[in-house]
Amino acid sequence: MKKVLYSATKPTGILTLGNYLGAIKNWLPLQDEYSCYFCVANLHAHTVELSASYVYDRTLQQLALFLACGLDPKKSVIYVQSQVKEHSELMWLLNCNTMMGEANRMTQYKDKVAKGVKSLSTALYTYPVLMAADILLYNSNVVPVGEDQVQHVELARDIANRFNHRFGETFVVPKAMVGKVGARIKGLLDPTTKMGKSDDDPNNVIFLTDSDEEITKKIKRAVTDSLNNIAYDEQNQPGVSNLLSIISACENVPIEEVVKSLNGQGYGALKKRATEAVISVVKPIREKFEYYMNNKDELLNIALLGAKKAQKVAIETINKAKSAMGLI
Ligand code: TYM
Repeated sequence: MKKVLYSATKPTGILTLGNYLGAIKNWLPLQDEYSCYFCVANLHAHTVELSASYVYDRTLQQLALFLACGLDPKKSVIYVQSQVKEHSELMWLLNCNTMMGEANRMTQYKDKVAKGVKSLSTALYTYPVLMAADILLYNSNVVPVGEDQVQHVELARDIANRFNHRFGETFVVPKAMVGKVGARIKGLLDPTTKMGKSDDDPNNVIFLTDSDEEITKKIKRAVTDSLNNIAYDEQNQPGVSNLLSIISACENVPIEEVVKSLNGQGYGALKKRATEAVISVVKPIREKFEYYMNNKDELLNIALLGAKKAQKVAIETINKAKSAMGLI
């Protein structure tokens, strides 16, 4: 029996080069090795205030990008979270097994509170428990994620262990899997924070739907430094280091080799290389994305088939968990 692999992205924006290099690209070869589930986690999108049409459009776009990136519905279960209602149901059961202290420690919520953001929803506070439900529903062994999500997978482990201890062996305890290269791609204008799909400034981010011209313009504007030295040094040269990571991940070449091959050249050459590397990755994805967006019926059919397959397993798990908890 193959081990189970689970991962998801939330449709709060268009997927970025960071999502691809940090997450989706690492998933592709794993489709042969594991029994895989890939989910567009649209219930997670409403943890922040977004309109219905925004979430609907981003969900379809994300699904199309999954397929365009090479996730294959013949090999993997590819589905939309809201089409499998057991996610929300399991979340309640897990809420009963999550400590306030644990929820308080989750950085996304903590960061927003620290920044003084007003009117936070309780969903933003408890969404890591929904994420635990996503993972635990499918008996997942491994969860490939970028570094920012490792804390949430740890929480899923802790909840699973607590539940199993209290109510008897019910859930498989999952493990996070973090890729080495491209695990954390940073913004182009602010290379100290991650390249995020909900960024206010589109010039900080390369979207997987960007045209060649947009990519070229964005990389031209990317922040470097005044040292004029191509070296990987995140502390003192975060912008240059980020471009080197991007080249390395796009070209599948170790960073040291990229640095060596650019030896003695200036930042112009570094940016030209980065632009070519990014376009070679994004262009074929964008073209396939456009195909699916022009064939929405095909896209919705793939989602429905995926949801049916996912729900079969989800129902088994929820029944097991309810009966373990003494719920009729
Ligand atoms: P989300 O949508 O923010 O990100 C999706 C995946 O992409 C990774 N990632 C990055 N990796 C490298 N560099 C970046 N700049 C970058 N930006 C994002 C993230 O680490 C993540 O792996 N809560 C999750 C979605 C989710 C999920 C799940 C994940 C819902 N349920 C169950 C795994 C298992 C989220 O917000 O990811």
